[in-house]
Amino acid sequence: MKLGVCYYPEHWPETDWASDARMMKAMGLTHVRIGEFAWSRIEPEQGRYDWGWLDRAIDCLHGAGLEVTLGTPTATPPKWLVDAYPEILPYDEHGHPRRFGSRRHYCFSSPVYWRESARIVEAIVGRYGRHPAVTMWQTDNEYGHHGSDESFSPAAKEAFRLWLEQRYGEVERLNEAWGTVFWSQTYRSFAEIDPPAATVTEPHPSHRLDWRRFCSDQMCRYNEMQVAIIRERSPGRSVTHNFIGDFTRLDHAKMGRALDIASWDSYPIGLLSEGPASHEKKQSWLTRGDPDFAGFNHDVFRACSPKWAVMEQQPGPVNWARYNPAPAKGMVRLWTWEALAHGAEFVSYFRWRQVPFAQEQMHAGLLAPDRTVQPVAGEIETIASEIARLEPLAQEKAEVAILLSYESLWQHEIQPQGNRSGPLRPARDLYTACRRLGLNVDIVFPDSELTGYRLVLLPAVTILDEALCEKLDRSGAMVLATALTGARTVSGRLPHNLPPGPLQRWTGVKVMSFESLPGFAEFDVTIEGKSWKASMWREAIETQGDVIGNFADGAPAFVRQGRFHYLACWPGEDLLLEILSRLCLQNEMPVIDLGPDLRMRSTARVKFAFNYGSAPIDLGGKGAPQEDNAYLLGGRMLTPSGVSAWPIRPILERH
Ligand code: GAL
Repeated sequence: MKLGVCYYPEHWPETDWASDARMMKAMGLTHVRIGEFAWSRIEPEQGRYDWGWLDRAIDCLHGAGLEVTLGTPTATPPKWLVDAYPEILPYDEHGHPRRFGSRRHYCFSSPVYWRESARIVEAIVGRYGRHPAVTMWQTDNEYGHHGSDESFSPAAKEAFRLWLEQRYGEVERLNEAWGTVFWSQTYRSFAEIDPPAATVTEPHPSHRLDWRRFCSDQMCRYNEMQVAIIRERSPGRSVTHNFIGDFTRLDHAKMGRALDIASWDSYPIGLLSEGPASHEKKQSWLTRGDPDFAGFNHDVFRACSPKWAVMEQQPGPVNWARYNPAPAKGMVRLWTWEALAHGAEFVSYFRWRQVPFAQEQMHAGLLAPDRTVQPVAGEIETIASEIARLEPLAQEKAEVAILLSYESLWQHEIQPQGNRSGPLRPARDLYTACRRLGLNVDIVFPDSELTGYRLVLLPAVTILDEALCEKLDRSGAMVLATALTGARTVSGRLPHNLPPGPLQRWTGVKVMSFESLPGFAEFDVTIEGKSWKASMWREAIETQGDVIGNFADGAPAFVRQGRFHYLACWPGEDLLLEILSRLCLQNEMPVIDLGPDLRMRSTARVKFAFNYGSAPIDLGGKGAPQEDNAYLLGGRMLTPSGVSAWPIRPILERH
């Protein structure tokens, strides 16, 4: 449980560095990330390196007893590099190069950029790989951000053709898999296939699905290239990458395999205002963020590599959202504890000092541009002293798992069938319902081990194969598949036996037809005489199993066969809570409705409560201790933005 900060020594006079480092240390920070955008300062001209300033910056931080995470600076190739090799730029879908003047202006498929990236990474790692202060490396910065996952450059076109050839071998197999007979899209060779862009109407969905796979793979391969250089020349150091929250264009699980620590950048308020939440929710959580935004992403990245962390934590207003309110007092502490309670190795704040120039001059830091310490620093000092009082928090496997499949998210994004609430919505709705019921959740991926879970949830996992179904069966868990699960094959086609494809055998369900509806067109699902609302999606199913819930016209809505359950619509919040509560009850898993604003997280020996709402909450009625002196942090009355923690008995091992 460590705290850190993102620092840009190159932005400030060298005379400030030593006192910055002392102040960091005094605030309780132990880790400093530097360097990830500093290429033009490290190599002002091709082949001429200026290490002096970076040597002194690292030594200065080291001298103050701080550990350094050094970023490879490849997110910002300098102007001379772009001018010398314009082919490294990414291309937009109309075939125009995107320009120099911001960041992430490179194409993952450019062989020249690979060569130049390897060169700068080798140079930096060669110089600092064994420096005692440098304990961790960050590769690049937020792969895929700003639409940089896609480049329609000539190099990307060549690489995509090669990727397709490797996947299909013969072009006839591709034609068959995609179904190119439709609209005369048949190809005679891989050399005829372009990236799916700038077509008259929508490009072929299978073509787009493979393009998404390819773009994600290119990012993974590029990252692996950097990781290999670091591992060879900087023994014993950890390697991380800072991922983006709620981002779906990159298969984080696949990239995470190459990393020691999957870290991510948490901007709960910025992303609430940008996201698809309703107006009421945006109003309610304006200065606190969606209670499940950070938790969900913690659980995603926790599942991606052996360790995980928050590399950038929002400390105040950001500069990039539609509107940028200040977090309510106490929220930075709450977000930090929520991360630590989920098992984060460290939480690092973005950024040390607000920069008075350039694109992010309106983004808050821990210090104002004139070095005045902002009030949020007091929250950080408090956390540091609280960490010192608590024992390390051991984590336990959750009882519930939500299965996330990136290719299903891509498929959903490519053919949403009118559902515009975004591909993550089903997973997020299930996550919120579980967390509201007080459950810890593990995110799992199609290749994860599933034994030991008591309940596995499939949120519109459109692409799933026989092997995954068998693994679900062997796990012994109760399974809930929501509508759209199994609705596509790996090639993006409707399954020949109709949805839910291979899951028919286990659920006893066959989806005969489906309709998508606007959010305002709610309809009822009735279970044992009581009705709840659903909306957006409804399927007509045939079933061999038991019917638990019905639509108003009597058609089956919620069914089960053995341990496998299928829900043939998109449930409203209350229906989802009802269904999950029932499944938990049958599974002897205790649940309690915490309401919209309260969240709890159990570690092996300590339980935490977090208040995301604007009214105090009495934890006494929620299974927490009655006496204030039984708490390790906070107490029974949980103030708005407050954190409470109390010891719990070790949970017994189950078989
Ligand atoms: C992140 C990025 C940082 C900074 C920050 C501002 O996405 O990694 O470099 O731009 O946003 O909120």
